[in-house]
Amino acid sequence: MSTLYKGISSLALTGEKFGDLQVIENAAFAVADGKVIYVGPASKAPECQEEIDLGGRSVIPGFVDSHAHLIFAGERSEEFASRITGKPYAAGGIRTTVRATRAASDEELKANAEKLIAEFYASGITQFEIKSGYGLDVETELRSMKIAAELTQHTTFLGAHVVPEGVERSEYIKSVTGEMLQAVRPYAKWIDVFCDQGAFSVEETKQILEAGIAAGLKPRLHANQIANLGAIPLAVELDCASVDHATHLSAEDIAVLSGSNTVVTLLPGAEFSTKSPYPDGRRLASAGITLAIATDCNPGSSYTTSMPFCIAVAVREMGLTPEQALWAATRGGAKALRTEGGSFEVGASADFVVLDAPSHVFLSYRPGVQLVSQTYIAGRRVFERQ
Ligand code: NIG
Ligand code: FE
Repeated sequence: MSTLYKGISSLALTGEKFGDLQVIENAAFAVADGKVIYVGPASKAPECQEEIDLGGRSVIPGFVDSHAHLIFAGERSEEFASRITGKPYAAGGIRTTVRATRAASDEELKANAEKLIAEFYASGITQFEIKSGYGLDVETELRSMKIAAELTQHTTFLGAHVVPEGVERSEYIKSVTGEMLQAVRPYAKWIDVFCDQGAFSVEETKQILEAGIAAGLKPRLHANQIANLGAIPLAVELDCASVDHATHLSAEDIAVLSGSNTVVTLLPGAEFSTKSPYPDGRRLASAGITLAIATDCNPGSSYTTSMPFCIAVAVREMGLTPEQALWAATRGGAKALRTEGGSFEVGASADFVVLDAPSHVFLSYRPGVQLVSQTYIAGRRVFERQ
């Protein structure tokens, strides 16, 4: 079965390099067997068995969310509210969610993640990562990773989120690099560490990531959210696929990242929710660094599933152009996960989003408005706005 989508005011195609965006007006595209078989001007579109007229809407590639903590229970709205009156964000809040997560059943954890995934679809996300990190004991990290692996291929073991209550630090690191790592290994593609004030030092991070790499996992990093402990050179040295948050970077860090294979993943929802200063995205882009934008969906520092919201904040507060932000939320996310996706050329999986707007610029021009009209994964509709 082939389907032609026409009546498209503008269609955004992402190129290979950061920020490359080609916009085709009066566009059409065709899909067969879940793959794109034509994309270009409507005037040159092939005949298909079925035709769908999108009525002048615009189309963008599906968003790729490369950073999400979906396995948890409970919520922390009181902690959020206290920040608004001046209490700073601290890594220790994670332990509140750990208590709730340990007490939840597998069914509850999975149902909560599935609810958030339905929200992802409504926000135009078609591929997403899922981290563990709210179990912090062998049993609950394993349960978390098993559920994550049922929901996505992009699974990340974040046993090194913080040291849990009641466990001696060196004992915990021994477990994360030993028994816990071996238990979750069949379910994890990536290993991540929160290298920051109140979490893990650079030396500990090196030890944990190297143990993960030796076990066959690939490294990625949470770093420089609260303070700059000096994690960036290590991230590049270990070829981390991405370093995420990067709120606090020195000029040397920027020089090290520029020209490396490590993507910087901006998490605008985290600075928004924690009332922190935003990193200077424009400066990073000018330095030739590849940027991704992700939701960081989690109950503590960024309880959003809305990629359009993150794009709007990245444009308004981090200085990205709408084109750079769209690229970062699609192709950039795929690069941060070292996977295909976030593009819409012939042969690609037909993952796309129909916007109830004439172009992608409206994502930041009309913040907070539900512009996502439909979301498709491999040619199958997973969301339609009623
Ligand atoms: O990416 N920074 C570390 N981890 C999460 C927050 C976790 C939490 O506060 O529950 C983040 O922001
Ligand atoms: Fe995170």
